[in-house]
Amino acid sequence: MSQGKVAFVTGAGSGIGKGTALAFAEAGYAVAIADRDEAAGAAAEAELRAAGHSAAFFACDVTDDASVAAAVAETVERFGGLHAAFNAAGIEGEHGKLTAEGTLDNWNRVIAVDLTGTWLCLRHQIPAILKSGGGAIVNCASVAGILGAPAFSAYVAAKHGVVGLTRTAAIEYVRQGVRVNAVCPGTIATPMNQKLDPELLKGLLAISPAGRMGLVSEVARTVVFLCSEGAGFINGQAISVDGGWNAQ
Ligand SMILES: NC(=O)c1ccc[n+]([C@@H]2O[C@H](COP(=O)([O-])OP(=O)(O)OC[C@H]3O[C@@H](n4cnc5c(N)ncnc54)[C@H](O)[C@@H]3O)[C@@H](O)[C@H]2O)c1
Repeated sequence: MSQGKVAFVTGAGSGIGKGTALAFAEAGYAVAIADRDEAAGAAAEAELRAAGHSAAFFACDVTDDASVAAAVAETVERFGGLHAAFNAAGIEGEHGKLTAEGTLDNWNRVIAVDLTGTWLCLRHQIPAILKSGGGAIVNCASVAGILGAPAFSAYVAAKHGVVGLTRTAAIEYVRQGVRVNAVCPGTIATPMNQKLDPELLKGLLAISPAGRMGLVSEVARTVVFLCSEGAGFINGQAISVDGGWNAQ
């Protein structure tokens, strides 16, 4: 158990972020729920509190440096420190256009949320964790952070960037007591995938050795483990949670 510890989760209003906020709470952390969707964030806070957990929602747009700075500062003020973070806020952007056909608008949006947003979070989380005596951060990449995927170039580029950023921050800060890892989920049953074209989803499941979608709880438990003492020598890794997709 991690009583007295504080976790900060972005994208915690939905899907993988929300499930991981619950998993941190169940492991004994006080949890900061950060999301740009205020209704979803407030609902996630209410659910955790109703289950007897310590949780607070902070409105936060990860593409806005001042917004991230404020959410991290408010978390430290409210709970007294920061020991773990999971950066799950993300969008997949447009699908279906080859690299030479995608729009600049889609490229900029996906890079801003998925890659720049992750960097802005690290930029404010690392100093807060250092001041709290050390801890661990997990960034949410994807199987698309390891493999290419046709007609998804902005997302693939952003998620590969998240893996590179993770490796670099990991080697920079480990001696000061902050470990940084990434998780690379395969297709997980979340609202993000409910928006996908059913034919595309069928194709994704067909190429997955497990032949099923992963559960949010399977990613969430991996993240909580990576932030635990048991993972104390795991640093700078991109851990696949994909039923073997990337082993092929
Ligand atoms: N679902 C999957 O199959 C899958 C697979 C691999 C990786 N991922 C990654 O997992 C993460 C979570 O995905 P999900 O499926 O839970 O998605 P989701 O759409 O269910 O949740 C994403 C959350 O991020 C929030 N968000 C989006 N932009 C934001 C911003 N600028 N600032 C703050 N919050 C913002 C949304 O409001 C939402 O609550 C993403 O980074 C995604 O790329 C998902």
